[in-house]
Amino acid sequence: METFDVAVIGAGAAGMFCASVAAQRGLRVVLIDHAARIGEKIRISGGGRCNFTNLHTGPANFLSANPRFCRSALARYTPQDFIALMKQYRIAFHEKHRGQLFCDGSAQQIIDLLHAECAAGQVAWRTPCKVKLVRTENNKYTIGLEAPDGAPAGLLQAKNLVIACGGLSIPKIGASDLGYRLAKQFDIPVITPRPALVPLTFAQWPYAHLAGLSLEVDLTTTGPYGKASFREDLLFTHHGLSGPAGLQISSHWMQGEHQSILANLAPDADLQAAIVENGSGRSFASNTLEEWLPKRVSEAWSQEILTSRTREPLAMLPRAAKQKLADHVQSWRIVPDDTEGYRKAEVTAGGVDTRALSSQSMESTTQKGLYFIGEVVDVTGHLGGFNFQWAWASAMACGQAVG
Ligand code: FDA
Repeated sequence: METFDVAVIGAGAAGMFCASVAAQRGLRVVLIDHAARIGEKIRISGGGRCNFTNLHTGPANFLSANPRFCRSALARYTPQDFIALMKQYRIAFHEKHRGQLFCDGSAQQIIDLLHAECAAGQVAWRTPCKVKLVRTENNKYTIGLEAPDGAPAGLLQAKNLVIACGGLSIPKIGASDLGYRLAKQFDIPVITPRPALVPLTFAQWPYAHLAGLSLEVDLTTTGPYGKASFREDLLFTHHGLSGPAGLQISSHWMQGEHQSILANLAPDADLQAAIVENGSGRSFASNTLEEWLPKRVSEAWSQEILTSRTREPLAMLPRAAKQKLADHVQSWRIVPDDTEGYRKAEVTAGGVDTRALSSQSMESTTQKGLYFIGEVVDVTGHLGGFNFQWAWASAMACGQAVG
């Protein structure tokens, strides 16, 4: 049986980075993944250009049942550290919006960087290979492997086991629940996973005709992490809401609890003055709203509230109707029924409970030599490069400590 100092399961962003760091410290490291193509999530991320970090990364950009956990790793491996690595590999990048850094060229460059870093440490690869069993004997982990055709692919042994198999998002490119199953096997608690950064859907959705329209809004809700508020672009879809605002708020939304979201579609408007108090206005409400809303949204919202009186000038409308319209624009209360699920979710919220891990090393506090890094852990970033920064930072914390 081949033996290693470290076996890493999952060759995504966190797994490859961790393997390279540990291997470059002189440890014998093996990296196992069941996917035929390595680094697929990196390749498809950021529209193919990978939003690999965010300059403004801080603990406040992450959601977790244990919000302080991410502080240490994030402080010890910062966006500037990953930028230095990008520069070392001469990978050009640019800032797009609010500190979000993207490759100028293809995300493949980051996959190549990680491969090169693994090669520099002589990481051994077992891909594509399924993990059939994990057991512990004499303070070592024995891992049984299986080829894609189901044929046994041998056993290997390692002193340390790093679980970097990510969450459940996008099963068609290799996501699985192995990380959570292994946590449970070793009695490590898992916070129930759920899709996050995911479009919200509604059983009754009267706005399908607005699909494709986007506008800057304020969204607010109170969910599992307390009150959350975002000012971002909201996109109407055929089944509900998406865009940066919809995705961000989805991470704070719990299904099955009739949790409402408050939307202000015209956050900079004074509709009290422009609509409600406007007693002499000759224009229609929808025309007035167009100053802040796309024409089709103004029309849809006016039609919904004013119905047959849509074509009456503001001065003719009862104050109560105008107030109702202003409230519908600035205090639109929506209760999603569902999300588009793991098929569309950028990340998985929840995961391995960080109260059972060391924030210094990511090692289990009860199971020696067992580590969890990246998205499998209950640390979920906001939209904008934070999830990759967590993958790099948690991988570095583990890669430096393991052994
Ligand atoms: P990741 O999911 O990357 O890797 C897990 C690995 O484990 C995979 O290679 C998988 O095949 C393997 N694995 C799973 N089960 C296994 C099993 N049973 N046996 C063996 N191997 C197994 N974030 C960001 O910061 N900026 C961005 O631009 C984007 N964009 C983006 C777009 C889309 C479409 C998605 C789906 C996600 C993003 N993200 C993102 C999120 C980001 O991709 C994600 O948070 C990281 O890839 C997480 O890295 P991990 O290494 O933890 O998991």
